[in-house]
Amino acid sequence: MLVAYENQNLSSPSTRSNQLIHGDCIDVLSQLPSACADLAITDPPYLVNYRDRSGRTILGDNQSDWLKPAFAAIHRALKNDSFLISFYGWNKVDLFMDAWKRAGFTPVGHIVWQKRYASNSRFLSYTHEQAYLLAKGRPPLPDTPLSDVQPWHYSGNALHPNQKSVRVIEPLIQSFSRPGDLILDPFCGSGTTAVAAKQTGRRYLAIEKSDEYHAIAAKRLA
Ligand SMILES: C[S@@+](CC[C@H](N)C(=O)[O-])C[C@H]1O[C@@H](n2cnc3c(N)ncnc32)[C@H](O)[C@@H]1O
Repeated sequence: MLVAYENQNLSSPSTRSNQLIHGDCIDVLSQLPSACADLAITDPPYLVNYRDRSGRTILGDNQSDWLKPAFAAIHRALKNDSFLISFYGWNKVDLFMDAWKRAGFTPVGHIVWQKRYASNSRFLSYTHEQAYLLAKGRPPLPDTPLSDVQPWHYSGNALHPNQKSVRVIEPLIQSFSRPGDLILDPFCGSGTTAVAAKQTGRRYLAIEKSDEYHAIAAKRLA
């Protein structure tokens, strides 16, 4: 179901299941009851003023004022003893880590995806993506821990300039949630996390601020 959040009552489990919401995640998350999501996986703006060759840019990528309120709101929305997995820009790790820790998260792992191509080449040939595994409370250990080095799958970026492959997100969902769980992605872009949640038998709550990418995610999820 696709809705504008102003018209949406998010207070019951059924009304926040399988929802793609158009809005600023800080506002939308404040409408949620606390401790309602089982797992958050998100790929926020990296704070690098990104512009691809065709001129596509990312909302929020040139300012960091959203960082602390957004991660505080994600922490509130997550159940106790659960995880947030957040991609981040490696050269802004200090800002991200400060926001995560202030929100109440504890870093408990770091995942690196090895690419077969360089996304940039300067002092190094930049061939990895990265995310932190962050705990709210003391979640249980998985029976079979996922390796913290994962193969990268290129999405092609047709729907979004930073589009992640569903194949990158699915193992995370399988490792850190159970069938039927509610997976939250407050910076959902083209809706990759929601697609991965659907394909693995979970429910999703995805939020996107940009008109353009919300429309693309809506079409993809429909
Ligand atoms: C790095 S992209 C996510 C791409 C996504 N992983 C995918 O596969 O398409 C980050 C997204 O966050 C959105 N965004 C930025 N600030 C936001 C906010 N305050 N609330 C909700 N979405 C926001 C941007 O428009 C952008 O689409």
